Amino acid sequence: MRIMRADRGLLITLEGIDGAGKTTIAGMLKMRFPDFVFTREPTEGPVGKMARRTEEPLEQLFLFMADHANHLRSCILPSISSGKVVVSDRYIDSRAAYQGALLREMIPIDWIYDLHRPWSLMPDMTLLFRIDPSVALERCTKRGATSLFEMETLLREVSRNFDIMASREPERFVVIDAERGIPEVAEHAASEILKLLRRRDSQGGDLL
Ligand code: TYD
Repeated sequence: MRIMRADRGLLITLEGIDGAGKTTIAGMLKMRFPDFVFTREPTEGPVGKMARRTEEPLEQLFLFMADHANHLRSCILPSISSGKVVVSDRYIDSRAAYQGALLREMIPIDWIYDLHRPWSLMPDMTLLFRIDPSVALERCTKRGATSLFEMETLLREVSRNFDIMASREPERFVVIDAERGIPEVAEHAASEILKLLRRRDSQGGDLL
């Protein structure tokens, strides 16, 4: 599907390590922006479910990617083409950060981006919810979640990967301090979204 610039919506992604609070913030943004399409990766589809269950990093990479291909085709591209603003809780950068950390001996992060580039769509803006991994881990333990990813050493590496990516693409990434209270974090995220919408409107719908 070809995306026409004139009637193109916007793609905003939410990224960060487990326990950063993205999902809670996504819920609050949903109330604030009821016309937006809110979605997430991994999806609840069969491949997304399989990706969540898999613990082998190389299999994870390709399953998360297959889930992404399905997510793009079935939700993101049609919504963007019809002019909608789409907010995705996790997207390509999660693959680069998580599988990039788990497969670091074998696969460079750039290769993960290269794998997506020919067929995927890069976000217009990525909100990176930044939190110290030990604080994030404490939040995860409180809510009873323990996954392979929620181990501190790994989370530190994932967090470092997100930081590297954000410093490489400062026009796309907005770093949000997620150690503050939820209302403050949500307000910051909403203000960045409003800024992006204003920028788009002042440029006649053409951001790129
Ligand atoms: P998460 O959004 O945290 O889902 P849940 O609410 O079920 O915890 O995502 C699940 C995990 O999958 C999370 O630890 C991050 C990881 N993940 C990857 O490793 N690579 C990816 O490409 C994606 C989308 C997620």
